[in-house]
Amino acid sequence: MTTTAQSTPLAEQPEQAIREQLSQWQGQYNGLGGGNLKLDLSRGKPGIEQVSLSDGLDGILQGNYISADGTDTRNYGGTRGIQEARELGAQIMGVPVENTIATGNSSLSIMHLVLRTAMDLGLWGDERRWSANTSETSRPKLLAPVPGYDRHFVLTKHFGIDLIPIPMTEDGPDMTAATAAVADPSVKGIWCVPKYSNPTGCTYSDKVVEQIAGLANTAAANDFVVLWDNAYAVHDLYEAGDSLASVFNAATAAGTLDHVVQFASTSKITHAGAGVAFASASTAVLDALDKHYSVFTVGHDKVNQLRHVKFLQGRLAEHMAAHAAIIRPKFELVEDIFSRELGGLGIASWTKPKGGYFVSLDVPPGLARKIIAMAKAVGLTLTPAGATFPNGDDPQDRNIRIAPTFGSLEEIHAAMDILTLCIKTASAEQILDRG
Ligand SMILES: Cc1ncc(COP(=O)(O)O)c(C=O)c1O
Repeated sequence: MTTTAQSTPLAEQPEQAIREQLSQWQGQYNGLGGGNLKLDLSRGKPGIEQVSLSDGLDGILQGNYISADGTDTRNYGGTRGIQEARELGAQIMGVPVENTIATGNSSLSIMHLVLRTAMDLGLWGDERRWSANTSETSRPKLLAPVPGYDRHFVLTKHFGIDLIPIPMTEDGPDMTAATAAVADPSVKGIWCVPKYSNPTGCTYSDKVVEQIAGLANTAAANDFVVLWDNAYAVHDLYEAGDSLASVFNAATAAGTLDHVVQFASTSKITHAGAGVAFASASTAVLDALDKHYSVFTVGHDKVNQLRHVKFLQGRLAEHMAAHAAIIRPKFELVEDIFSRELGGLGIASWTKPKGGYFVSLDVPPGLARKIIAMAKAVGLTLTPAGATFPNGDDPQDRNIRIAPTFGSLEEIHAAMDILTLCIKTASAEQILDRG
C-alpha cells in the first residue's frame, strides 16, 4: 500500500479526484480480508523487550534483605517506605525526600486513597471533607483536562465526584478555563499529567505549572487539591527530553504546598504492575495518608522496594535510555506513516511526543467512532472512541488514542497502514456526502 504525501487538502480537491481516490481506497480496504488480522494499537503498556530490561531484579538481593538503616525488609512495618526507596521516588519526581513516600505496586491506588481521604476522612487533619456537600447541585467536582487519562475519570466517578472537561493546549490545560471554573466552590481539584501527558504527549509550560500551583489561592473551595500524576517523569524518547518546572517549588512559593499531591511509579520503568509507587505532598497531607494506610496495610512490600533501589540506583538514566532505544523507532514509525499517508490532506492532526506512551490523533469531527469500527471490522483494535473524555463522551467524536509501545515494528506498520486507510476512506465519504 503506497500513497505519497499530498499537498492539496482532500476537501479542496475536485470531486472527481476524490471519487477516484475513494474507489481506490475502498478497493484496498475490501482487499484486507475482513477481520482475519489481529492487530492492536490500544495497549498502553510496555512491550516484552522493555519489561525484559528489568529481569535483573530477580535475585538481585542475593539474600541481603537489610536496608541502609538496618530495617529487615522481610518483616512488617513502615507505611512510608524504606528511606532509600523514598530517595528513589524523590529523584524521579524531583522533590525532597522528606516529602516523599514509597508504597506498593500502583500509583493509581495512592490516587484512590487520596480521593477517599479527601472525600470522607480529611486530607489536612481538620474538618474539611469534600463529601460535606453531595446534593445534586453542589456535588464535588474535579477538572479534567481533555483528552486525558481514562482511569482518572473512572476513579473520579467511582467516588461520585463529577468531572468538568477543560481543553488541553500544547502548553497544558487551558488556564483561562481552569481559573474560571475554580470560582465554583464545588470544584475541588484538577487532574494533571504534567509531563508527556496521556494521551497528547504535551509537557506543561513553566507558566502553566506556576498557574496550577497558584490555583488553590484563587479557588473558592478551601479544600482544593492539584492531583499531579507525573507517571512519565523520566520517560523521554530522546536524550534532550522535555523539562518540567517543579510544581513543588512553585507551590512552596505560592504557599499552596498543602494543596498539591504528586504521584509516580516504576510501572513503566521496571515490571508493570510489579514495581513501586510514590507520592509526594506536604507533611500534613502525608501524615493524613499514613494514618489511613496503616488501617489497610501493616506495611508495603519493602523487599520489592529494596530490589528496585539496588537495581536502579545510579543507573536510572541509562535504564530509561534503553527503554527509549526500544520504543523510539515505534513512535517514529507512527509519525512517518501519518505524515506519508495523511500529510497535507487536512483530514487529521496528530501529536509528536518526545516521551511518554501515547500519540493523540484527531480525525474530522463525527468520524472517530466510525473509523474505529471500520478498523475493528478488518482486525485492528483501537482504544474505544470517547475513552479520553469523561463518561466516554467525546463531544466532537474526533479523538483517537494511539499506543505504539506494545506491538512489534511489523505489527505497528501493518496497523498504521490500516488506520490511515480507514481515515482516508471515511473522510472522503464524509466530504462527498456533504457535497
Ligand atoms: C497517567 C498515568 N497514571 C498512572 C498510570 C498507572 O500507574 P500505576 O501502574 O502506577 O498504577 C498510568 C498507566 O497507564 C498512566 O498513564
